[in-house]
Amino acid sequence: MSVTIRDIREHVFGIAHWVDRERTCDRITYGDESREVRKVGTGWVPCVPNLRAAADDGCDLFISHETSFYGNWAPELDSTDTPWGRARMDVLRKANMACINFHDTWDNFPEYGIRDAWRTFLDLTELVAERPYYYPGGNRFAARNSLTLCRTEPTTLGRFAQFVAERCSEFSASHGVTVQGDLDAPVCSVATGVGCHIPGLEMVELGADVLVLTLDRALQTTVRIPLREMGVNLITVEHGTAEMPGMQRMAEYLVEVFPELETQFYCEEPPAVTFVG
Ligand SMILES: [Fe+2]
Ligand SMILES: [Fe+2]
Repeated sequence: MSVTIRDIREHVFGIAHWVDRERTCDRITYGDESREVRKVGTGWVPCVPNLRAAADDGCDLFISHETSFYGNWAPELDSTDTPWGRARMDVLRKANMACINFHDTWDNFPEYGIRDAWRTFLDLTELVAERPYYYPGGNRFAARNSLTLCRTEPTTLGRFAQFVAERCSEFSASHGVTVQGDLDAPVCSVATGVGCHIPGLEMVELGADVLVLTLDRALQTTVRIPLREMGVNLITVEHGTAEMPGMQRMAEYLVEVFPELETQFYCEEPPAVTFVG
């Protein structure tokens, strides 16, 4: 039996019933719903290196988490009309590879989605609380419970941070973690989020010994310094690092639901290293 893009989208939207299909950013960037697919690449961002790798492997469809474009990238410059925007579309057109994204649907998709894949990637399996995300200064709550608090084997901040760094090193776009706090502080419970939906004060009040944040949202001014002023322990990773496990799990999930498919996870986002002075 053949699988179409529509079959895949209907399945995912059918489970992610909390997502408004009219308003979501989960769209088709290239290709149409009736297209039959056999080999599917998944990855965090539909950047040129990911798209090229998937196209070279013969994928018919690439599914990213983040959207392909971001509206205006500079004043009066639509992101589709940038060198990188055109390059992305160029790869898709030349390879005739379809491209869609599952963002809102996959963030809180049960078990395999970004939230649960990230915490289980960090061996945080004993869930004790969950809460919606609050955006400091933005007055915006996410619809679902993006934040989790999990109990862990008793450890210290330093040892847990080292474990996170090692675990994430399988993604070349990860370049370690930033730790703020007393490295010897005991850690028995850890709060995590969903990409830019990062845990905050509420999770500390629920008993989190450390918050795992992402650089794209944990601004030094409005997030990290205030939390440190309150003595909160912080571990900060790249946005993509926290979301790649969910896209890795998507590749596994799709073949469980559609055994006709072949899938492959890609993490060709530009690698990074951190120099410590
Ligand atoms: Fe996300
Ligand atoms: Fe994200």
